[in-house]
Amino acid sequence: MPDNYETSRRLYERAKKVLVEGVNSPSRGDCFYKPHPLFFERGSGGRIYDVDGNAYVDLMLGFSVLILGHSHPEIQTAIKRAADFGTHYAAGCEVEVQVAEKLCELIPCAGRVRLANSGTEATMAAIRLARGFTGRKKFIKFEGHYHGWYDDFLVNTHSKPIDAWGTEKDPIHIADSSGIPLESLANTIAVPWNNIDLLADKIKQYRGQIAAIITEPIMSNIGCIPPHPGYLEAMRQLATENEILLIFDEVVTGFRYAPGGCQDYYGIVPDIATFGKAMGAGVPIGLVAGRREIMEAFAWGNVLHFGTFNANRLALEMVKANLDVLTKDQNAAIKRLHLIGDQIVDGLKEIFRRRRVPVIVQGFGPMFQIYFTEKETISDFRDYCRDVDTDKYNRFANLLRNYGVQVPVNNGLHASTCVAHNEADVTQVLNATDQAISKML
Ligand SMILES: Cc1ncc(COP(=O)(O)O)c(C=O)c1O
Repeated sequence: MPDNYETSRRLYERAKKVLVEGVNSPSRGDCFYKPHPLFFERGSGGRIYDVDGNAYVDLMLGFSVLILGHSHPEIQTAIKRAADFGTHYAAGCEVEVQVAEKLCELIPCAGRVRLANSGTEATMAAIRLARGFTGRKKFIKFEGHYHGWYDDFLVNTHSKPIDAWGTEKDPIHIADSSGIPLESLANTIAVPWNNIDLLADKIKQYRGQIAAIITEPIMSNIGCIPPHPGYLEAMRQLATENEILLIFDEVVTGFRYAPGGCQDYYGIVPDIATFGKAMGAGVPIGLVAGRREIMEAFAWGNVLHFGTFNANRLALEMVKANLDVLTKDQNAAIKRLHLIGDQIVDGLKEIFRRRRVPVIVQGFGPMFQIYFTEKETISDFRDYCRDVDTDKYNRFANLLRNYGVQVPVNNGLHASTCVAHNEADVTQVLNATDQAISKML
């Protein structure tokens, strides 16, 4: 059990003198990491090593980016190729076409694809595309769904006491940040998730005005909340009947649940989808994919989407190598993500049951989260705000690090598995959990 974090502590003190809160993204700071964030030296396979020499089984994986694990050999080769050939041309190259062909082959909704540099960029472009294509301004997003830090999306995402949100039929819109003019949210309609009647009511209320419904197919920013059976199908039907474009934000779920994301896994095809994170296996990336006739609105003079770094060669080489590894031998790597994830989820459930701790483990396969709650299931953002003890989870997650396991310390995120995780990692996660939870009883 590591008890030495001294070098991290000293680096953190130094970092605070030159970086706001000592970090470059506030969720990495001491709001969640107690007593202070750690600093890391290297990652290898399914493990990550901090600057004090402590090793961790990594279930955080750079916010679910490192689907192949750290320093995968094929990724190292891809980086070397980009270094040898030049990292960026801002012009076409063959690997760009190869990557686009592969993406169109894998992703059910992809008649055409457009690369970007982050999930936020992809969802921004997707909403502009939907608005441009339909000529309508409004869009529906769901409470608790995060689509990046673009103004129009940043509403009803941060957990707050349940009485802040108004009724389910008429949610109070609360911006997630200072600096967002109310006008930016004027066309955003927030609706609770996993309830088809509430969605149908809102569509009726704004008939003919809604360009798009954007949804995460499995919620991954309030822990991990799968859709109720039939919910996504009903959403698809409602969108079609009302000539609203359905956007799946697969920035987290993409390439993880199935080669073509959740649309492939569940067999429900959206009109547009966005990807990022795991697609690049460690390099910044974003993607908009969609039906050909919709995507063609990105043509010159119509819906604007630019980007100096779009489809740079470094990213392209990494995406290509990543997709080749993931889809080799009939998607054996993706099957492995499921297998390892299910083993961890089943093992965790057994530990909490045996120790009689009121905890549920939600999710399956490549992605899951632990909720300290008396409830049997958490179905949406409001359940989470009302019924989950997020402080307790934070204490647990920080404690778990002392036993050599890194999970996201923010309960709103989720743990994920990578191709490099093995049975020894599963055993360590389960032993660490057992010890950490025994300390909290
Ligand atoms: C579902 C979802 N969409 C979009 C984004 C934004 O992606 P990025 O952080 O790459 O901008 C995130 C980030 O966590 C996400 O979880």
